[in-house]
Amino acid sequence: MLESVEQFTLKQLSLPAKLVVTLFLLSVGLGYLSAMVQLHFKDASKGNPMPTASDVVARYAGEIWPPVSEAENSEKGGTEMGNNTTNNTTHKATDQANPQKIALKVGEVVKVKTIFTARCLLCHQENSETAQDPFMDKWDKLAQQLEPKAETSKIHRLIIADEKVAFGKDSMVAAFTKKSIVDDMKWKEQLKKNPEALLIAEREKERLGLVAWLEAGAPKEAYDQDRFVVPEPKKDQIIAPKGPRKPNAKNRQISVESLTQSTHAHLLSFSMLYSLTGIIFAFSSFPSKIRIIFAPWVLFFQIADISCWWLARLEGIGPYFAIAILGTGGLVGLGLMLQIIGSIFSMYNKKGKTVLVGLFLLAIAAGGITYIKVVAPQLAEEKAEK
Ligand code: HEC
Repeated sequence: MLESVEQFTLKQLSLPAKLVVTLFLLSVGLGYLSAMVQLHFKDASKGNPMPTASDVVARYAGEIWPPVSEAENSEKGGTEMGNNTTNNTTHKATDQANPQKIALKVGEVVKVKTIFTARCLLCHQENSETAQDPFMDKWDKLAQQLEPKAETSKIHRLIIADEKVAFGKDSMVAAFTKKSIVDDMKWKEQLKKNPEALLIAEREKERLGLVAWLEAGAPKEAYDQDRFVVPEPKKDQIIAPKGPRKPNAKNRQISVESLTQSTHAHLLSFSMLYSLTGIIFAFSSFPSKIRIIFAPWVLFFQIADISCWWLARLEGIGPYFAIAILGTGGLVGLGLMLQIIGSIFSMYNKKGKTVLVGLFLLAIAAGGITYIKVVAPQLAEEKAEK
């Protein structure tokens, strides 16, 4: 519109207007810094100045990161069974649905053979087209796997693995849940028919039942009769229920309500703020190419950032969007800093700029001192606490 007229720049503002704009930009900068401090307390794990990849993945995707090399392990046999591949990439800890410890009672009857057939033979049976070594569909083949002692056998180790361990050569725990198939229904479909808590409790009992049977020496009669009665635990029994599980990524995930709240707060108020800083920068004296890139920059990456918050909830690829949040968040900060410093500098003449450089150096010094005196000790304390 003003093509032929010389474009307005911040330099042309009157001194009072410049001062207002300068202080506005500085207070936005300070506001941003305090938001960073809040982010530290809200999201960062203790001892880290800022959230790490594993923090953001836990918070936004509700998963454990890094996902303990599951991809390689499950490829071998897990995926081609027509199992749900998205489940393979990461672990969703299941205990939110299972807060109370599930235990077997002495005297309880465990249908070992049924459980074994339903949960293990799906993959470990010679005739299935997706057969996976070792085959255990006949007793003597199974017995080979139980040597020399059932209670310390590989099978035992594989079904008591920590939930963080990926399904594969070190854990078969997911065979009871995510990898289970019932009447052709994969885990997700099973969940549609049954409440998750119920299914998990049921399967956890099955798992503990097999563990108890193995720890009793895997008696053949119990297997043949499909009836193992849980005995009094031995004194020095390894007993290996995974126990009351530790807090995990799922517990740290932000709720949909909070995310909605955060989304609208950011979109409404921050958009306003970033539009102002963007417009101010648009009238700075930088070459137009630079202004075209950096004036809308912050707004753009804020939208990308918020989109990632939501995309992180996707099954499977979610964690990658969660990690992208570190990038988009950083780009928002970078852009804002450029806008603030760039706009302020392009507003004043040489003398003013000299004063500004002096002030910025002071600010950096103050920031450095704060870091050494306040931030670093605080972080060290958090580390020590941990
Ligand atoms: C969804 C298919 C699937 C199910 C169900 C399954 N497994 Fe596996 N199992 C595999 C795959 C795949 C491997 C090979 C893992 C590897 O080497 O990476 C394997 C390996 C094993 C091994 C050999 C490990 C080694 O390192 O030699 C044993 C033992 C085993 N599973 C026991 C079981 C038991 C017990 C169950 C039932 C609780 C079970 N599996 C259920 C797919 C399955």
